[in-house]
Amino acid sequence: MSEQALVRFDVEDGIGVITVDYPPVNALGPGVPEGIIAALEKGEAEPNVKAMVLMGAGRTFIAGADIRQFGKPRPVLPRRTYDVLDQGTKPIVAAIHGFALGGGLENALACNYRIAVSSAKVGLPEVNIGILPGGGGTQRLPRLIGPKAAMEMIVSGRHVPAPEAKTLGIIDEIVAGKDLRAEAIAYAKTIADRRPLPRVRDSSEKLAQAKGDPGMFEGMRKSIARRARNQIAPYHCIAAVEAACSQAFDDGIKTERRLFGELENSDQAKGMRYAFFAEREVARIPGIGKDIALPPMKNIAVVGAGTMGGGIAMSLADFGHNVKIVDATPEVLAKGMQRIQDNYAISVKRGSLKQEEMDRRVPRIHPVERLEDIADSDIVIEAVFEEMPVKKEVFAKLDRIVKPGALLMTNSSALDIDEIASVTKRPELVCGAHFFSPANVMKLLEVVAGAKSAPTTLATAMKMGRDIGKLAAYAGNCDGFVANRSRAPFGTEMVLMAEEGALPEQVDKVMVDFGYPMGPFAVGDLAGLDIGYASRRRRAAADPNFRKLPVPDRLVEMGRYGQKTLAGWYRYEKGDRTPHPDPEVKRIIAEVAKDMGIQQRSFTDEEILRRLLFASVNEACKILEEGKALRASDIDVMWLHGFGFPRYRGGLMFWADQIGVAEVHRQIEEWHQRYGARWKPANLLRELAQSGGSFRDAKKI
Ligand code: 3HC
Repeated sequence: MSEQALVRFDVEDGIGVITVDYPPVNALGPGVPEGIIAALEKGEAEPNVKAMVLMGAGRTFIAGADIRQFGKPRPVLPRRTYDVLDQGTKPIVAAIHGFALGGGLENALACNYRIAVSSAKVGLPEVNIGILPGGGGTQRLPRLIGPKAAMEMIVSGRHVPAPEAKTLGIIDEIVAGKDLRAEAIAYAKTIADRRPLPRVRDSSEKLAQAKGDPGMFEGMRKSIARRARNQIAPYHCIAAVEAACSQAFDDGIKTERRLFGELENSDQAKGMRYAFFAEREVARIPGIGKDIALPPMKNIAVVGAGTMGGGIAMSLADFGHNVKIVDATPEVLAKGMQRIQDNYAISVKRGSLKQEEMDRRVPRIHPVERLEDIADSDIVIEAVFEEMPVKKEVFAKLDRIVKPGALLMTNSSALDIDEIASVTKRPELVCGAHFFSPANVMKLLEVVAGAKSAPTTLATAMKMGRDIGKLAAYAGNCDGFVANRSRAPFGTEMVLMAEEGALPEQVDKVMVDFGYPMGPFAVGDLAGLDIGYASRRRRAAADPNFRKLPVPDRLVEMGRYGQKTLAGWYRYEKGDRTPHPDPEVKRIIAEVAKDMGIQQRSFTDEEILRRLLFASVNEACKILEEGKALRASDIDVMWLHGFGFPRYRGGLMFWADQIGVAEVHRQIEEWHQRYGARWKPANLLRELAQSGGSFRDAKKI
C-alpha cells in the first residue's frame, strides 16, 4: 500500500485536512507516520492553508502504535510525528472520534488543539502491553492535566470518556459529531489566526503540583504495590512522569525513551503483547464468518437463582440487558434476589459502583416463578445443580415450554453437552455457556460445542459473551471441557505434592511469587473444599480407577470446608480472611503419608512450580491433539481470565514455550518414569519435542 493511500491530505476552505486511513483502527503502522509527516509538510508549504486538522477515517481516530511492530527491527525515522506536529507554524486541530489511544493520543497531545465527539475515548493504555507511552505522552500529559491525574491515567491505562477528558483539560471542545470533518474545519477556522500557538510542551504551571505534594510519586508506588506486584512497566510509568516534573521537556523525552527501551523487549512486554493478540484471536471459530446471521438476543432468561445463576444475571444486567431469573420455589428465588442485591451493595460500599448505577441494574433482573414465564425467551441459560438427571429434567421441560427456535445453554462446568441436548428436540440449538465463578467478575466464558450445536448457536453464545464484556472461548465437549480439564492435573498434583511434603503455605507462596493473586490452597478454602469433595465422590462412583485424594477428603469429613468454617487447608480468625498455617493440617498430611507409605521430603520452589504447571501443559497438549481446543493461545486466554494466571507471563502455554518444549518434555518424561502413568507425555508433546516446534504453533504442525 502506498503512503498516499494510508494518509490523505486535502484542502477545504483554507484548512488542510490530514486523514489517516489504515483500517481497522488506524494504528501507526509502517508508512502511517511517514504519511502524516508528508501531509504536514504539504500543509506548511501551501500558502492558502491557514490551519490543519488531523483525523481518522472509518470508525476511529488513531488506536496507537502498531503493536505488531514491537520487538521487530524498525527503521528509525529522522523525525517523529510528535515533533513535526508541535514545531509547525500553523495551528493543528486533532479531531477525535472512536479512540485516541497510546501513540494516537500522543499525536493529539502534540497538536495545538483537540476536539472530540462525546462518544470518543482517550487513553494511554501502553501499560497493558507491558510498556509505557513512548511518544511523549508521559511528558505532555502531566503538563496538560497535572502529574497526579496523568499518572493515574497512565498507570491504570484506562480509557477516559470524552466528557471526562474535557473536564480534565485534555479536550478543548466537545462537538456534536454529526459531521466531524465539517465541524473540525469550522473549529479550525475559529482558531486559525490565534497566536502564539498553544503547545503543551511549553506549559509548566501544572507541574508545580508535584512541588506542593512531594510524596505523590511514592504514594502512587505504594498504592499499586499489590496490583502491580512483580511488574516493571507501571513503575517505569511513574518514573517517567516524575521525570516530567524534574527535568526540562527535551531531557524528559530522553528519559521516557530510555525507560521505553528498557521495556519494549522485556519478557513481560512480550507476554502481554502475546496476550493482547490471543484475546482477539480467541473470538474466531474457523468456518464461522463475521457475517453470519444471528438470531435475536433480546429476551434472555436464567434458570437457577443460586450463586452462579445470580452472577450470570448480574453480568447481563451490568451491560444493560433485561433478564428474567427463575427458580423452583419462591423462597429460593427471594434468597437469590437478596444475594444479588447484597453483592451490588458490597460494590457500592467499596466504591467500585455508584448507588445510581446499582439502582439502574437491579430492576433489570426480573424474578419470575414459573418456567412458563420465560417461554418467550430468545436465550435461556440454565444454572441449576450440577447433576446430570437434574439438568436433563430441566432441559426436557425447557424444550417443551420455551418457544421454538430459542437457544438453550447450560452453565455446566463438566457434564456431557450431548447427553443434555439429547432430551430436547432441538439439539442444534443447545450449547454450553460455562461462566467462571464469581460469574459477574470473571471474564472468561467457555462456549461448549455439542456434536449437533449449529454454527449460529455457537456464534450467538460467543457474541452474547462479548456483549457482556466476557472473553468468549470455544471448547469442545469433553469431561471438564477445556479450562477445567487443563486445570485439573494442577489441582491433583498440588495435593499429591502436599502428601510428599510440600506444605500448602510453601506451595501457595511459590504461586503467589509467580504472580497469582492467591495461592491454590487459599483459593480452595475460599471456594469451599466441600465442592471438590462432592465432585470427587460423584466421579469415584462412576469410575473405579478415579484417583482418591485422602487429605482433602479427611479435611472435609472433619468439617473443615474452608473459610466458611474457619478451617480448611488453613485456619482463619472470625471476620478475617487471612490464612494461617495450621499444625493440625501438617499432622493430617503426615498421617496420610505414613498410612500410604509415602516418604516425605523437601521441595525446591522450582520443582513445585514445574510440577503444578507442567501437569497442566501435558493435559493441554492432549486437549489440543483431540481437537477440543482450537489453539494453544485459547487455552492461555482461559488461564488468564478464568484462573488468574499472571497476564505478564502470557498464559500457560506461552510460559511453557519460554522454557522450551524440549525441556518440558524431558522433565515430564522423567516424572513419567518416577511417578507412573499420570505423567505419560501427550503424543503432541512428544511430536513437538521431536520436530522442534513450539506450543503456540502446535496446531500448525
Ligand atoms: N496495533 C496493531 N493492531 C491493532 C491495534 C494496534 N495498536 N489495535 C487494534 N489492533 C487490531 C486488533 O488486533 C484487531 O485485529 P484483528 O481484527 O485482526 O483481530 C483489530 O485491530 C480490531 O481490534 P479490536 O478487535 O480490539 O477492536 P475493538 O473495536 O474491540 O477495540 C480498540 C478497539 C479499543 C482500539 C482496541 O483494539 C485496543 O485497545 N487497541 C490497542 C490500543 C493500544 O494499546 N494502543 C497503544 C499501542 S502502544 C503505543 O501506542 C506506543 C506509543 O506510546 C509509542
